[in-house]
Amino acid sequence: MGQSHEKVAEGALVSRRSRLLGAKSQLFYDEPVHLVRGKGVWLYDADGRKYLDAYNNVAHVGHCHPHVVEALCRQASLLNTHTRYLHTAILDYVERLTATFDASLSTAILTCTGSEANDIALRMAQAATGRMGVIATDATYHGNTTAVSQLSTRMPPVGGRARNVRLVPAPDSFRHPDAMANGKAFGDAVREAIASLEQDGIGLSGIILCPLLANEGFPTLPNGFFDDAMCAVREAGGLVIADEVQPGFGRTGSHFWGHQRAGFVPDIVTMGKPMGNGHPVAAVVTSSDILATFRNAFRYFNTFGGNPVSCAVANAVLDVIEQENLLANAHDVGAYALGLLRPLADRHECIGEVRGAGLFFGAELVRARKTREPAPDIADEVANRMRHRGVLMGKTGIHGNVLKIRPPMPFSRANADFLIGVLDDVLGEVGGVSA
Ligand SMILES: Cc1ncc(COP(=O)(O)O)c(C=O)c1O
Repeated sequence: MGQSHEKVAEGALVSRRSRLLGAKSQLFYDEPVHLVRGKGVWLYDADGRKYLDAYNNVAHVGHCHPHVVEALCRQASLLNTHTRYLHTAILDYVERLTATFDASLSTAILTCTGSEANDIALRMAQAATGRMGVIATDATYHGNTTAVSQLSTRMPPVGGRARNVRLVPAPDSFRHPDAMANGKAFGDAVREAIASLEQDGIGLSGIILCPLLANEGFPTLPNGFFDDAMCAVREAGGLVIADEVQPGFGRTGSHFWGHQRAGFVPDIVTMGKPMGNGHPVAAVVTSSDILATFRNAFRYFNTFGGNPVSCAVANAVLDVIEQENLLANAHDVGAYALGLLRPLADRHECIGEVRGAGLFFGAELVRARKTREPAPDIADEVANRMRHRGVLMGKTGIHGNVLKIRPPMPFSRANADFLIGVLDDVLGEVGGVSA
Protein backbone atom coordinates (compact mmCIF):
# COMPACT_ATOMS: atom_id res chain seq x y z
CA MET A 1 0.00 0.00 0.00
CA GLY A 2 2.80 2.39 1.09
CA GLN A 3 4.87 1.55 -1.97
CA SER A 4 2.05 2.06 -4.49
CA HIS A 5 1.29 5.40 -2.82
CA GLU A 6 4.96 6.39 -3.30
CA LYS A 7 4.85 5.34 -6.95
CA VAL A 8 1.71 7.44 -7.57
CA ALA A 9 3.33 10.46 -5.89
CA GLU A 10 6.52 10.01 -7.93
CA GLY A 11 4.54 9.58 -11.18
CA ALA A 12 2.65 12.82 -10.48
CA LEU A 13 5.92 14.65 -9.86
CA VAL A 14 7.44 13.35 -13.09
CA SER A 15 4.43 14.40 -15.20
CA ARG A 16 4.29 17.81 -13.50
CA ARG A 17 7.96 18.21 -14.26
CA SER A 18 7.48 17.24 -17.93
CA ARG A 19 4.61 19.70 -18.24
CA LEU A 20 6.58 22.56 -16.70
CA LEU A 21 10.16 21.83 -17.76
CA GLY A 22 9.64 19.95 -21.03
CA ALA A 23 9.29 16.24 -21.74
CA LYS A 24 12.94 15.80 -22.66
CA SER A 25 14.22 17.39 -19.47
CA GLN A 26 16.69 14.72 -18.38
CA LEU A 27 16.32 12.66 -15.22
CA PHE A 28 18.75 10.05 -13.90
CA TYR A 29 17.57 6.44 -13.47
CA ASP A 30 14.54 4.49 -14.68
CA GLU A 31 12.94 5.35 -11.35
CA PRO A 32 14.04 8.92 -10.67
CA VAL A 33 15.19 9.85 -7.16
CA HIS A 34 13.36 12.61 -5.29
CA LEU A 35 16.05 14.06 -3.06
CA VAL A 36 15.19 16.41 -0.23
CA ARG A 37 18.31 16.58 1.94
CA GLY A 38 22.07 16.06 1.83
CA LYS A 39 24.85 15.79 4.40
CA GLY A 40 28.47 14.92 3.66
CA VAL A 41 28.52 12.00 1.23
CA TRP A 42 24.91 11.06 1.93
CA LEU A 43 21.67 12.07 0.22
CA TYR A 44 18.15 11.45 1.52
CA ASP A 45 14.96 11.06 -0.50
CA ALA A 46 11.42 12.18 0.30
CA ASP A 47 10.74 8.89 2.11
CA GLY A 48 13.81 9.27 4.31
CA ARG A 49 15.82 6.67 2.37
CA LYS A 50 19.56 7.18 2.46
CA TYR A 51 21.86 7.01 -0.62
CA LEU A 52 25.64 7.00 -0.73
CA ASP A 53 26.58 9.71 -3.21
CA ALA A 54 29.28 8.27 -5.47
CA TYR A 55 28.51 10.63 -8.34
CA ASN A 56 28.25 14.31 -7.43
CA ASN A 57 31.51 16.19 -7.70
CA VAL A 58 29.64 19.49 -7.36
CA ALA A 59 29.22 18.91 -3.63
CA HIS A 60 33.02 18.79 -3.60
CA VAL A 61 33.61 19.18 0.14
CA GLY A 62 30.42 17.30 1.04
CA HIS A 63 26.75 18.19 0.78
CA CYS A 64 25.72 21.23 2.83
CA HIS A 65 29.12 21.56 4.48
CA PRO A 66 28.49 23.75 7.57
CA HIS A 67 31.55 25.97 6.98
CA VAL A 68 30.40 26.75 3.41
CA VAL A 69 26.76 27.24 4.41
CA GLU A 70 27.80 29.56 7.22
CA ALA A 71 30.00 31.65 4.87
CA LEU A 72 27.15 31.90 2.37
CA CYS A 73 24.58 32.96 4.99
CA ARG A 74 26.93 35.45 6.62
CA GLN A 75 27.77 37.23 3.37
CA ALA A 76 24.20 37.02 2.01
CA SER A 77 22.93 38.77 5.12
CA LEU A 78 25.58 41.49 4.86
CA LEU A 79 25.92 42.52 1.20
CA ASN A 80 25.57 41.15 -2.30
CA THR A 81 26.38 43.35 -5.29
CA HIS A 82 28.57 42.92 -8.38
CA THR A 83 32.13 43.49 -9.52
CA ARG A 84 31.70 47.15 -10.52
CA TYR A 85 32.11 48.11 -6.86
CA LEU A 86 35.26 47.60 -4.84
CA HIS A 87 35.16 44.49 -2.66
CA THR A 88 37.95 42.46 -1.06
CA ALA A 89 36.39 38.97 -1.22
CA ILE A 90 37.00 38.58 -4.96
CA LEU A 91 40.59 39.81 -4.61
CA ASP A 92 41.28 37.47 -1.68
CA TYR A 93 39.84 34.62 -3.68
CA VAL A 94 41.71 35.29 -6.93
CA GLU A 95 44.98 35.65 -5.00
CA ARG A 96 44.38 32.34 -3.25
CA LEU A 97 43.21 30.57 -6.39
CA THR A 98 46.03 31.73 -8.65
CA ALA A 99 48.58 30.72 -5.99
CA THR A 100 47.69 27.11 -6.85
CA PHE A 101 48.86 27.57 -10.49
CA ASP A 102 52.08 28.14 -12.39
CA ALA A 103 53.26 31.73 -11.84
CA SER A 104 52.29 32.64 -15.43
CA LEU A 105 48.59 32.13 -14.56
CA SER A 106 48.01 35.08 -12.26
CA THR A 107 44.67 36.68 -13.18
CA ALA A 108 41.04 35.59 -13.38
CA ILE A 109 37.52 36.39 -14.47
CA LEU A 110 34.71 34.90 -12.40
CA THR A 111 31.52 33.59 -14.01
CA CYS A 112 28.50 31.57 -12.92
CA THR A 113 28.92 28.39 -14.99
CA GLY A 114 31.59 26.29 -16.63
CA SER A 115 29.92 26.94 -19.99
CA GLU A 116 30.40 30.68 -19.61
CA ALA A 117 34.00 30.14 -18.51
CA ASN A 118 34.72 28.07 -21.62
CA ASP A 119 32.94 30.59 -23.83
CA ILE A 120 35.26 33.30 -22.47
CA ALA A 121 38.30 31.04 -22.92
CA LEU A 122 37.47 30.59 -26.61
CA ARG A 123 37.05 34.34 -27.04
CA MET A 124 40.34 34.96 -25.19
CA ALA A 125 42.17 32.62 -27.57
CA GLN A 126 40.54 34.35 -30.52
CA ALA A 127 41.39 37.83 -29.20
CA ALA A 128 44.99 36.82 -28.48
CA THR A 129 45.65 35.17 -31.86
CA GLY A 130 43.31 37.07 -34.15
CA ARG A 131 42.19 33.69 -35.49
CA MET A 132 39.02 31.63 -35.02
CA GLY A 133 39.90 27.93 -35.35
CA VAL A 134 39.40 25.68 -32.31
CA ILE A 135 40.23 22.02 -31.75
CA ALA A 136 38.55 19.63 -29.29
CA THR A 137 38.13 15.87 -29.09
CA ASP A 138 35.28 14.07 -30.81
CA ALA A 139 33.76 12.67 -27.61
CA THR A 140 33.64 15.70 -25.37
CA TYR A 141 31.37 18.19 -23.68
CA HIS A 142 32.46 21.68 -22.71
CA GLY A 143 29.09 23.33 -22.03
CA ASN A 144 26.04 24.84 -23.59
CA THR A 145 26.55 28.37 -24.91
CA THR A 146 26.17 28.74 -28.68
CA ALA A 147 29.96 28.69 -29.14
CA VAL A 148 30.89 25.82 -26.81
CA SER A 149 27.93 23.64 -27.79
CA GLN A 150 29.63 23.55 -31.22
CA LEU A 151 32.26 21.37 -29.55
CA SER A 152 29.79 18.84 -28.22
CA THR A 153 29.46 15.62 -30.14
CA ARG A 154 26.49 14.10 -28.34
CA MET A 155 23.92 16.38 -29.97
CA PRO A 156 25.33 17.72 -33.27
CA PRO A 157 24.56 21.41 -33.82
CA VAL A 158 21.55 22.39 -35.91
CA GLY A 159 22.74 23.25 -39.42
CA GLY A 160 25.99 21.31 -39.01
CA ARG A 161 29.22 22.05 -37.22
CA ALA A 162 30.71 25.55 -37.53
CA ARG A 163 33.56 26.00 -40.03
CA ASN A 164 36.03 26.98 -37.31
CA VAL A 165 35.73 23.74 -35.31
CA ARG A 166 37.85 20.61 -35.80
CA LEU A 167 37.36 17.49 -33.70
CA VAL A 168 40.18 15.00 -33.22
CA PRO A 169 39.64 11.34 -32.18
CA ALA A 170 39.53 10.90 -28.40
CA PRO A 171 42.13 8.38 -27.26
CA ASP A 172 40.75 4.98 -26.25
CA SER A 173 43.23 3.30 -23.91
CA PHE A 174 41.25 0.08 -23.79
CA ARG A 175 40.65 -0.58 -27.49
CA HIS A 176 43.74 1.05 -28.96
CA PRO A 177 46.44 0.85 -26.28
CA ASP A 178 49.20 0.95 -28.94
CA ALA A 179 48.17 4.42 -30.10
CA MET A 180 48.47 5.52 -26.47
CA ALA A 181 52.17 4.80 -26.16
CA ASN A 182 53.39 8.39 -26.44
CA GLY A 183 50.56 10.50 -27.73
CA LYS A 184 52.06 10.56 -31.25
CA ALA A 185 48.80 9.51 -32.92
CA PHE A 186 46.94 12.21 -30.98
CA GLY A 187 49.59 14.79 -31.90
CA ASP A 188 49.35 13.79 -35.57
CA ALA A 189 45.56 14.21 -35.48
CA VAL A 190 46.00 17.69 -33.98
CA ARG A 191 48.54 18.59 -36.72
CA GLU A 192 46.08 17.44 -39.36
CA ALA A 193 43.33 19.58 -37.81
CA ILE A 194 45.65 22.62 -37.76
CA ALA A 195 46.55 22.07 -41.43
CA SER A 196 42.88 21.82 -42.34
CA LEU A 197 42.07 25.09 -40.49
CA GLU A 198 44.94 26.81 -42.28
CA GLN A 199 43.92 25.41 -45.64
CA ASP A 200 40.41 26.83 -45.15
CA GLY A 201 41.89 30.26 -44.33
CA ILE A 202 40.62 30.10 -40.73
CA GLY A 203 43.81 29.50 -38.78
CA LEU A 204 44.19 28.18 -35.24
CA SER A 205 43.25 30.06 -32.08
CA GLY A 206 43.67 27.10 -29.74
CA ILE A 207 42.86 23.68 -28.42
CA ILE A 208 40.48 22.98 -25.52
CA LEU A 209 40.94 19.79 -23.52
CA CYS A 210 39.96 18.28 -20.21
CA PRO A 211 43.36 17.04 -18.97
CA LEU A 212 41.69 13.92 -17.54
CA LEU A 213 39.55 13.43 -20.68
CA ALA A 214 36.76 12.82 -18.19
CA ASN A 215 33.80 12.92 -20.56
CA GLU A 216 35.77 10.79 -23.02
CA GLY A 217 35.83 8.03 -20.36
CA PHE A 218 39.03 9.04 -18.49
CA PRO A 219 41.41 6.79 -20.49
CA THR A 220 44.70 5.77 -18.91
CA LEU A 221 47.21 8.22 -20.38
CA PRO A 222 50.98 7.70 -20.20
CA ASN A 223 53.15 10.54 -18.86
CA GLY A 224 53.69 13.19 -21.49
CA PHE A 225 50.76 12.02 -23.59
CA PHE A 226 49.72 15.56 -24.51
CA ASP A 227 53.24 16.90 -25.19
CA ASP A 228 53.25 16.32 -28.94
CA ALA A 229 49.79 17.85 -29.41
CA MET A 230 50.69 20.88 -27.27
CA CYS A 231 53.89 21.32 -29.27
CA ALA A 232 51.91 21.28 -32.53
CA VAL A 233 49.44 23.86 -31.19
CA ARG A 234 52.20 26.19 -29.97
CA GLU A 235 54.19 25.88 -33.20
CA ALA A 236 51.06 27.04 -35.03
CA GLY A 237 50.76 30.03 -32.65
CA GLY A 238 47.67 28.65 -30.89
CA LEU A 239 46.80 28.67 -27.19
CA VAL A 240 46.16 25.73 -24.88
CA ILE A 241 42.96 25.81 -22.84
CA ALA A 242 42.63 23.31 -19.97
CA ASP A 243 39.02 22.67 -18.97
CA GLU A 244 39.35 21.77 -15.28
CA VAL A 245 35.61 21.59 -14.61
CA GLN A 246 35.98 17.86 -13.83
CA PRO A 247 39.52 17.17 -12.54
CA GLY A 248 40.12 20.48 -10.74
CA PHE A 249 40.34 21.26 -7.01
CA GLY A 250 42.31 18.13 -6.14
CA ARG A 251 39.94 15.49 -7.48
CA THR A 252 42.70 13.31 -8.95
CA GLY A 253 44.46 13.11 -5.59
CA SER A 254 48.01 13.71 -6.81
CA HIS A 255 47.76 17.36 -7.90
CA PHE A 256 45.43 20.29 -7.35
CA TRP A 257 44.82 20.57 -11.13
CA GLY A 258 44.47 17.96 -13.84
CA HIS A 259 46.95 19.71 -16.15
CA GLN A 260 49.59 19.55 -13.40
CA ARG A 261 49.08 15.81 -13.21
CA ALA A 262 49.20 15.59 -17.02
CA GLY A 263 52.44 17.60 -17.04
CA PHE A 264 51.71 20.74 -19.06
CA VAL A 265 51.13 24.43 -18.37
CA PRO A 266 48.12 25.81 -20.23
CA ASP A 267 47.61 29.41 -21.36
CA ILE A 268 44.05 29.48 -20.06
CA VAL A 269 42.33 27.35 -17.41
CA THR A 270 38.59 27.07 -16.85
CA MET A 271 36.80 25.66 -13.82
CA GLY A 272 33.31 25.37 -12.38
CA LYS A 273 31.28 22.59 -10.77
CA PRO A 274 33.22 21.92 -7.50
CA MET A 275 34.31 25.52 -7.02
CA GLY A 276 31.24 26.62 -5.04
CA ASN A 277 30.11 23.28 -3.59
CA GLY A 278 26.77 23.70 -5.39
CA HIS A 279 26.65 27.49 -5.46
CA PRO A 280 26.92 28.69 -9.11
CA VAL A 281 30.43 30.08 -9.36
CA ALA A 282 33.03 29.35 -12.06
CA ALA A 283 36.20 30.99 -13.39
CA VAL A 284 38.73 31.51 -16.15
CA VAL A 285 42.36 31.86 -15.08
CA THR A 286 45.03 33.16 -17.46
CA SER A 287 48.11 35.36 -17.82
CA SER A 288 47.87 39.11 -17.32
CA ASP A 289 48.77 39.64 -21.01
CA ILE A 290 45.98 37.44 -22.34
CA LEU A 291 43.50 38.97 -19.92
CA ALA A 292 44.52 42.49 -21.00
CA THR A 293 44.06 41.57 -24.68
CA PHE A 294 40.65 40.08 -23.92
CA ARG A 295 39.53 43.09 -21.89
CA ASN A 296 40.68 45.42 -24.65
CA ALA A 297 38.72 43.44 -27.22
CA PHE A 298 35.50 42.83 -25.23
CA ARG A 299 35.30 44.89 -21.99
CA TYR A 300 33.68 41.88 -20.35
CA PHE A 301 31.18 42.22 -17.50
CA ASN A 302 29.09 39.48 -15.85
CA THR A 303 26.26 40.65 -13.58
CA PHE A 304 26.40 37.73 -11.15
CA GLY A 305 29.92 36.42 -11.72
CA GLY A 306 32.25 37.14 -8.81
CA ASN A 307 29.63 38.65 -6.52
CA PRO A 308 30.56 38.84 -2.81
CA VAL A 309 28.40 35.86 -1.83
CA SER A 310 29.91 33.64 -4.54
CA CYS A 311 33.39 34.69 -3.45
CA ALA A 312 32.66 34.02 0.23
CA VAL A 313 31.44 30.55 -0.73
CA ALA A 314 34.40 29.83 -3.03
CA ASN A 315 36.82 30.97 -0.31
CA ALA A 316 35.10 28.70 2.20
CA VAL A 317 35.47 25.75 -0.20
CA LEU A 318 39.23 26.35 -0.34
CA ASP A 319 39.29 26.54 3.49
CA VAL A 320 37.68 23.12 3.77
CA ILE A 321 39.91 21.52 1.11
CA GLU A 322 42.93 22.69 3.13
CA GLN A 323 41.59 22.12 6.66
CA GLU A 324 40.26 18.64 5.96
CA ASN A 325 43.22 17.58 3.85
CA LEU A 326 40.91 16.54 1.04
CA LEU A 327 43.62 16.21 -1.62
CA ALA A 328 45.41 13.61 0.49
CA ASN A 329 42.08 11.92 1.19
CA ALA A 330 41.34 11.68 -2.55
CA HIS A 331 44.77 10.13 -3.06
CA ASP A 332 44.39 7.61 -0.25
CA VAL A 333 40.74 6.61 -0.70
CA GLY A 334 40.98 6.66 -4.50
CA ALA A 335 43.90 4.22 -4.45
CA TYR A 336 42.12 2.09 -1.84
CA ALA A 337 38.90 1.95 -3.89
CA LEU A 338 40.76 1.09 -7.11
CA GLY A 339 42.46 -1.69 -5.16
CA LEU A 340 39.03 -3.07 -4.26
CA LEU A 341 37.61 -2.56 -7.74
CA ARG A 342 40.42 -4.23 -9.72
CA PRO A 343 39.86 -7.76 -8.35
CA LEU A 344 36.19 -7.54 -9.42
CA ALA A 345 37.48 -7.94 -12.98
CA ASP A 346 38.53 -11.50 -12.02
CA ARG A 347 34.95 -12.32 -11.14
CA HIS A 348 32.92 -10.39 -13.70
CA GLU A 349 33.53 -10.96 -17.41
CA CYS A 350 31.70 -7.72 -18.24
CA ILE A 351 34.52 -5.64 -16.74
CA GLY A 352 36.85 -4.76 -19.61
CA GLU A 353 39.12 -2.33 -17.79
CA VAL A 354 39.31 -0.68 -14.37
CA ARG A 355 40.85 2.79 -14.33
CA GLY A 356 40.87 6.24 -12.79
CA ALA A 357 42.79 8.69 -10.65
CA GLY A 358 42.02 9.78 -7.10
CA LEU A 359 38.30 10.09 -6.53
CA PHE A 360 37.45 9.79 -10.22
CA PHE A 361 37.44 6.15 -11.19
CA GLY A 362 35.34 3.42 -12.71
CA ALA A 363 35.21 0.46 -15.03
CA GLU A 364 34.61 0.03 -18.74
CA LEU A 365 31.91 -2.59 -19.31
CA VAL A 366 31.93 -4.92 -22.30
CA ARG A 367 29.79 -7.71 -23.68
CA ALA A 368 32.82 -10.02 -23.61
CA ARG A 369 36.41 -9.22 -22.79
CA LYS A 370 37.72 -10.94 -25.91
CA THR A 371 35.67 -8.82 -28.32
CA ARG A 372 35.82 -5.61 -26.21
CA GLU A 373 32.37 -4.81 -27.56
CA PRO A 374 31.02 -1.93 -25.45
CA ALA A 375 28.03 -2.74 -23.22
CA PRO A 376 26.25 0.59 -22.48
CA ASP A 377 23.06 -1.35 -21.65
CA ILE A 378 24.86 -3.26 -18.87
CA ALA A 379 26.31 0.03 -17.56
CA ASP A 380 22.78 1.44 -17.53
CA GLU A 381 21.41 -1.57 -15.72
CA VAL A 382 24.23 -1.45 -13.16
CA ALA A 383 23.60 2.26 -12.41
CA ASN A 384 19.86 1.60 -12.02
CA ARG A 385 20.35 -1.38 -9.74
CA MET A 386 22.91 0.50 -7.66
CA ARG A 387 20.36 3.26 -7.18
CA HIS A 388 17.88 0.70 -5.85
CA ARG A 389 20.57 -0.61 -3.52
CA GLY A 390 21.24 2.89 -2.15
CA VAL A 391 24.30 3.99 -4.15
CA LEU A 392 24.21 6.80 -6.72
CA MET A 393 26.65 6.63 -9.61
CA GLY A 394 26.61 7.24 -13.36
CA LYS A 395 28.13 6.31 -16.70
CA THR A 396 30.14 8.11 -19.36
CA GLY A 397 32.71 7.59 -22.12
CA ILE A 398 32.96 7.37 -25.88
CA HIS A 399 30.49 4.47 -25.93
CA GLY A 400 28.52 5.38 -22.79
CA ASN A 401 29.71 2.14 -21.16
CA VAL A 402 32.10 3.41 -18.48
CA LEU A 403 30.86 3.35 -14.89
CA LYS A 404 31.60 6.79 -13.49
CA ILE A 405 32.40 7.06 -9.78
CA ARG A 406 33.14 10.63 -8.72
CA PRO A 407 31.97 11.21 -5.15
CA PRO A 408 32.29 14.22 -2.85
CA MET A 409 35.89 14.48 -1.65
CA PRO A 410 35.33 13.45 2.01
CA PHE A 411 34.51 9.94 0.71
CA SER A 412 36.05 7.48 3.18
CA ARG A 413 37.56 4.00 3.00
CA ALA A 414 34.39 2.70 4.72
CA ASN A 415 32.29 4.37 1.99
CA ALA A 416 34.49 2.66 -0.61
CA ASP A 417 34.00 -0.73 1.10
CA PHE A 418 30.23 -0.26 0.96
CA LEU A 419 30.25 0.97 -2.66
CA ILE A 420 32.44 -1.83 -4.01
CA GLY A 421 30.57 -4.49 -2.01
CA VAL A 422 27.24 -3.44 -3.52
CA LEU A 423 28.81 -3.13 -6.98
CA ASP A 424 30.19 -6.67 -6.72
CA ASP A 425 26.67 -7.98 -5.95
CA VAL A 426 25.06 -5.96 -8.74
CA LEU A 427 27.64 -7.00 -11.34
CA GLY A 428 26.96 -10.60 -10.32
CA GLU A 429 23.26 -10.04 -11.03
CA VAL A 430 23.61 -8.30 -14.42
CA GLY A 431 27.02 -9.11 -15.81
CA GLY A 432 26.23 -12.52 -17.30
CA VAL A 433 28.98 -15.11 -17.36
CA SER A 434 31.69 -14.93 -14.74
CA ALA A 435 35.27 -15.19 -15.95
C1 LIG B 1 34.29 19.24 -18.99
C2 LIG B 1 33.12 20.16 -18.80
N1 LIG B 1 33.22 21.45 -19.14
C3 LIG B 1 32.20 22.30 -18.99
C4 LIG B 1 30.99 21.89 -18.48
C5 LIG B 1 29.86 22.87 -18.37
O1 LIG B 1 29.71 23.35 -17.09
P1 LIG B 1 28.33 24.03 -16.63
O2 LIG B 1 27.28 22.96 -16.63
O3 LIG B 1 28.63 24.60 -15.27
O4 LIG B 1 28.01 25.09 -17.62
C6 LIG B 1 30.83 20.56 -18.10
C7 LIG B 1 29.55 20.11 -17.52
O5 LIG B 1 29.28 18.95 -17.32
C8 LIG B 1 31.92 19.67 -18.26
O6 LIG B 1 31.82 18.38 -17.94
